[in-house]
Amino acid sequence: MSSNAAVISVRDLVVGFGGVTVLDHASLDVFDGEVLGFVGGSGAGKSVLMRAIIGLLPRRHGTIEVFGTDPALADEDQRRSIEQRWGVLFQQGALFSSLTALQNVQFPMREYLKLSPRLMEEIAAAKLEMVGLGPDVHEKFPAELSGGMVKRVALARALALDPDIVFLDEPTSGLDPIGAAEFDQLIRTLQRTLGLSVFMVTHDLDSLHAVCDRIAVLSEGKVIATGSIETMLASEHPWLKSYFQGNRGRQIAHRVQH
Ligand SMILES: Nc1ncnc2c1ncn2[C@@H]1O[C@H](COP(=O)(O)OP(=O)(O)OP(=O)(O)O)[C@@H](O)[C@H]1O
Ligand SMILES: [Mg+2]
Repeated sequence: MSSNAAVISVRDLVVGFGGVTVLDHASLDVFDGEVLGFVGGSGAGKSVLMRAIIGLLPRRHGTIEVFGTDPALADEDQRRSIEQRWGVLFQQGALFSSLTALQNVQFPMREYLKLSPRLMEEIAAAKLEMVGLGPDVHEKFPAELSGGMVKRVALARALALDPDIVFLDEPTSGLDPIGAAEFDQLIRTLQRTLGLSVFMVTHDLDSLHAVCDRIAVLSEGKVIATGSIETMLASEHPWLKSYFQGNRGRQIAHRVQH
């Protein structure tokens, strides 16, 4: 269950590149303990918003608060302590290709924690186990793993620092429907077990239905709607109607009703 406290608060965010404005006064909250599904057309700016929140892209205007603090205004120590409380699964280049699975999961620990190599290995092995991967993958490089395994290792890495918030950018893209459904369940189980707040960018209507407590929709640089899947399915807004009540949306609507 989500409570009312916002762990992430974005207000009037403007992000652009050269003459192009991608986010045009976008506002959004992620509440404590919820899975927020973030949708929008390809190129709408979903990844840009995620990257702006985690401080990888500069903003032209607006405020971003994570746990009540704006990382861009925080001093180095404060910023690092906020960074330690989130984990990220990126849309592209989910893993470092020159590092093994075990080394990939250890990477954030090396950056943020002072732990012995042996302890880091043990923690990384435990995180891999959490996502359903055994010792046989420890020494494998990303090129030697299936797409689904790469996603799992990336999820294990996102969990490396025992975060409070996890950012997932298209976690199930490229997986077959069964693999995607399994991954959705894994996310849900971990989120509930660990009490995580999750910001999940997805195109996958099945994921929205199976995993997300609330959905936010990005269009023309703004968050134009937030609410439950039922609210989205019932909306008369033209963009929401075509997205949620198209062919695939109708299948979800059927499932929501039954
Ligand atoms: N570093 C960058 N420099 C210049 N333009 C960028 C940069 N990053 C993103 N963009 C542009 O910002 C826009 C939004 O990109 P973004 O990756 O956020 O889309 P998205 O909503 O995540 O799309 P998709 O669903 O396809 O992943 C695009 O037009 C993209 O070309
Ligand atoms: Mg993207």
